[in-house]
Amino acid sequence: PRSTVAEAESRFITGHPDCNVTPYIANLVGRDLHKKSAHPLGIIKDRIEAYFAGLETSYDVFDGEDPVVTTTQCFDDLNIPPEHPGRSKSDTYYLTDTELLRTHTSAHQSQHLRQGHEAFLCTGDVYRRDEIDASHFPAFHQMEGVKLFSEEEMNGQTDFSDKEAWLASPECDIVAKDLKATLEGLIKYVFDDPDLQTRWRDDYFPFTEPSFELDVFYQDEWLEVLGCGVIHADVLDRCGLASRRGWAFGLGLERLAMVLFAIPDIRLFWTDDERFHKQFKAGQVSTFKPYSKYPPVFKDIAFWCPESYVENDFNELARSIGGELIERVENIDTFTNPKTGKTSNCYRITYRSMDRSLTDVEINALQDSLRDEAASALSVELR
Ligand code: PHE
Repeated sequence: PRSTVAEAESRFITGHPDCNVTPYIANLVGRDLHKKSAHPLGIIKDRIEAYFAGLETSYDVFDGEDPVVTTTQCFDDLNIPPEHPGRSKSDTYYLTDTELLRTHTSAHQSQHLRQGHEAFLCTGDVYRRDEIDASHFPAFHQMEGVKLFSEEEMNGQTDFSDKEAWLASPECDIVAKDLKATLEGLIKYVFDDPDLQTRWRDDYFPFTEPSFELDVFYQDEWLEVLGCGVIHADVLDRCGLASRRGWAFGLGLERLAMVLFAIPDIRLFWTDDERFHKQFKAGQVSTFKPYSKYPPVFKDIAFWCPESYVENDFNELARSIGGELIERVENIDTFTNPKTGKTSNCYRITYRSMDRSLTDVEINALQDSLRDEAASALSVELR
């Protein structure tokens, strides 16, 4: 059952000076969309799990970890340095200085490895403060996959203390090749197309080395679908697994579900509208037929910014006032007055409901509170 507003708020809105979780965000936690077998996110998750269940290695499956994790789990265990932008309060929702809403499912890698799981999948909701448009929502879902290799598969090697030697070794190549073959197989299975065109690109993550990204060519476009790599030696060392090697990947479920089901707006995943839910059946990938799109209402807001201004604070404010009624927040004009040194930003807010027509009265009220709150909470000077 969904927790009550008051319960959610008291758990996530802690009163700690570093807490930046809003009631709107608190009430997204616990919806468990990925566990609903007839929801597009659940359908994709089940499909990916079915692919792994058909492989020789047996994968333990997790999907119920608490999204509240520590900075150790989410960052330190994964080699993410203190100054990394992903750790900043402008990008991440903190409950306290050491507890946060996980920004990726990689936050659970180390705990499962320490518990002795050698191959596993781990799915959950993740949270990031970000821009607002049809493909960005502050909460989304990821699936993590990890596999360790046996001593035999590593040709008897257990001493990996020379890092350069490891990276140049044929065994490192064995891990990377297995990773790539497993994921190409996965994507072809999920798209149900053995001829699907894919390409690999080198990437960087602090917790894998080497790191890669997989793109697929779908409907005339290259689409980025996942990040992955050979697990970094430091991550395994911290789990007491210095003598082992393996791979990891992390994949966004919304991205895949939006293309496979032709879902045009990421907010639809969160709707309660029957016209959405009745279109999907467990175990079936089908094309979404959009019900009538209601007309958008555009409103602009312009203001002079204080030194301390960060754009995601404004995005957050818009989200906490307009919720899912805000489709997009677009910075349409920014300039700095050469005399005063002050910067002005103008944002165009697109209001649109997925489920109904909005009235002028209701939009004007939202826009008025956005203006008032921006002035008081962000100390901007309205123009
Ligand atoms: N956690 C990474 C992300 O969110 C994805 C990833 C997972 C990359 C595992 C490598 C290994 O972008």
